[in-house]
Amino acid sequence: MSTTLHDPNLSSTLREHRVFAPPPEFAAKAHVKSLEEYEALYQRSLDDPEGYWADVARELHWFTPWTKVLEWNPPWVKWFVGGKINLCYNAVDRHALGGRKDKTAILWEGEPGEVRRLSFAELHAEVQKFANVLKGLGIKKGDRVAIYMGMTPELAIALLACARLGAIHSVIFGGFAAHALVDRINDAACCAVITQDGSWRRGQEVHLKAIVDEALEKCSSVKSVVVYRRTGSEVTMRKGRDHWWHEVMAKAAPECPAEPLDSEDPLYILYTSGTTGKPKGLVHTTGGYAVQTYISSKLVFDLRDEDVYWCTADVGWVTGHSYVVYGILQNGVTTLMYEGAPNYPEPDRMWKIIDDHKVSVFYTAPTAIRACIKWGDQYPQRHKLDSLRLLGSVGEPINPEAWMWYREKIGRSKCPVVDTWWQTETGSIMIAPLPGAIPTKPGSATRPLPGVVAEVVTRGGQPVPVGSGGLLVMRRPWPSMARTIYNDPERYQSQYWSAIPGSYLSGDGARIDQDGDFWLMGRVDDVINVSGHRLGTMEVESALVAHPKVAEAAVVGRPDELKGQAIAAFVTLEGSQKPTPELKQELRAWVTQQIGALARPDDVRFTQALPKTRSGKIMRRLLRELASSGEIKGDISTLEDFSVIARLRESDEG
Ligand code: PRX
Repeated sequence: MSTTLHDPNLSSTLREHRVFAPPPEFAAKAHVKSLEEYEALYQRSLDDPEGYWADVARELHWFTPWTKVLEWNPPWVKWFVGGKINLCYNAVDRHALGGRKDKTAILWEGEPGEVRRLSFAELHAEVQKFANVLKGLGIKKGDRVAIYMGMTPELAIALLACARLGAIHSVIFGGFAAHALVDRINDAACCAVITQDGSWRRGQEVHLKAIVDEALEKCSSVKSVVVYRRTGSEVTMRKGRDHWWHEVMAKAAPECPAEPLDSEDPLYILYTSGTTGKPKGLVHTTGGYAVQTYISSKLVFDLRDEDVYWCTADVGWVTGHSYVVYGILQNGVTTLMYEGAPNYPEPDRMWKIIDDHKVSVFYTAPTAIRACIKWGDQYPQRHKLDSLRLLGSVGEPINPEAWMWYREKIGRSKCPVVDTWWQTETGSIMIAPLPGAIPTKPGSATRPLPGVVAEVVTRGGQPVPVGSGGLLVMRRPWPSMARTIYNDPERYQSQYWSAIPGSYLSGDGARIDQDGDFWLMGRVDDVINVSGHRLGTMEVESALVAHPKVAEAAVVGRPDELKGQAIAAFVTLEGSQKPTPELKQELRAWVTQQIGALARPDDVRFTQALPKTRSGKIMRRLLRELASSGEIKGDISTLEDFSVIARLRESDEG
């Protein structure tokens, strides 16, 4: 069995030697104060994983304690078996009924500049009322509710109200188009949609309700729609189906106790891209997810009562679920939500928000950092940024230059930077420095969190030597792991658990250095990461092929300075069609309309043929090379028709 993987994705040339020890004054106050303390905690979690997780779980409120911590029949898992818990209770009631009732839970800023503050007591009141609204619409435990909103406090209220009842929420990112909404609503047979009239983005209104209306033409399961009035623009309300949020809330009873839910009752479904055209709905359950989002927030962001925490992710992605809403509120910490674009009205908007609200912990994505670098240092320089004490990054590998810029220009060289690796599937941060304990290195997510057993292995499942690239796997189950793919347990099993028996395959490449620090190297499958968001190449290909003029399409990622990866599409046309610049634009617009702007190809290249193996598989590796470097130098011995290469080279660039 070979220990080196000859996969271009897995060869790493990055050698970064800078190391930053935790600042002593930070470490002194941190939850975990030294490397030794981290190592002891980690060792404990290895020696007695169930004891470790049970101790963490006891920090939360359970209506009934569990009888067994873990039941593990790979890949099927149950955590805190028999325990009864409610995540909404832990995120809201515990604080509203305790000493934090007047403390701000949600601090919201709209793009036009309005500010709203909801205390834990106010959030409690709103969530109870909205849970009663849902009940009034006949929604009960186990029902699926789609949420398609902008970043408003009502979005968080909607999530929490579902969690309170045990209704399963399925949040669909507000940037997705109607078509994507249809697929997701139908896959889970959602009975209701919660939306808003519109949302502000870069001064323009995104007409969410109109998109819902278009989608619902094709979704027969949806019986009710609740519309929060945000922008005040005109929308069509369908009688009997559509309800204004403010009207139903005005009539709702004030009290709604949190349901004691089974630890393994589903909490939400969240769709993410895979290697096929069909998005997969990952299912997260209640108890384990509550426990691990709680502890990872506490340890990685080193949360304290006085923090004002801001994660810039949209709640449409898993980062927003775990680290805008659930993990942060469970810690009783103020979470800031911002509605709009980071560069509106000017590219210093984020830095202004940090100063205005005295944000102390800031969590964003490498793509945003790279955009800020491009906009220029003058924007952060306009602001003090002295409230910040910790910076985080998530979504894709962060290049050392961006990491250093973030540290120096935003953190003013005094804030630790935590690069956090995790996935929709993992539910919580898995690999990241504990900022008071673990020295950081630009570009490294450093060490697994206590309770997380990560390794880098060959395709045969053997550990690779220090410094060599391999596949990142998890050797043991963890509480917030996804339990299945909605309606498709076989796909869950085959995709994540069959390549290396007993281990979870993340789909990412990584290496571990001599200090035991992890360096993430990107995806090893046909998934591309555009601005920190995962897109399956197949999804974009399916959209392209659905266009009447397209015969065949292959989509690959190529490196992009700002977005991490850009989308390059190679397209062959139906017999009589002529390749024209207009058609290129048409195809780009088509994909935007089918999936959303995120998936719009950056390059469209028309070609007469695609490179295929004798068994008919498209050789994306060659296309990746061509799209990235303009050349094909790699091994072409398995190619069916060598003349394709010459024809591909002639394909005109987008
Ligand atoms: O490839 C990894 C990359 O994002 C993927 C997960 O995407 P998603 O499920 O959309 O969740 C994003 C937010 C957790 C991973 O498989 N990724 C995420 N964080 C990092 C990362 N790659 C390198 N370093 C990271 N810190």
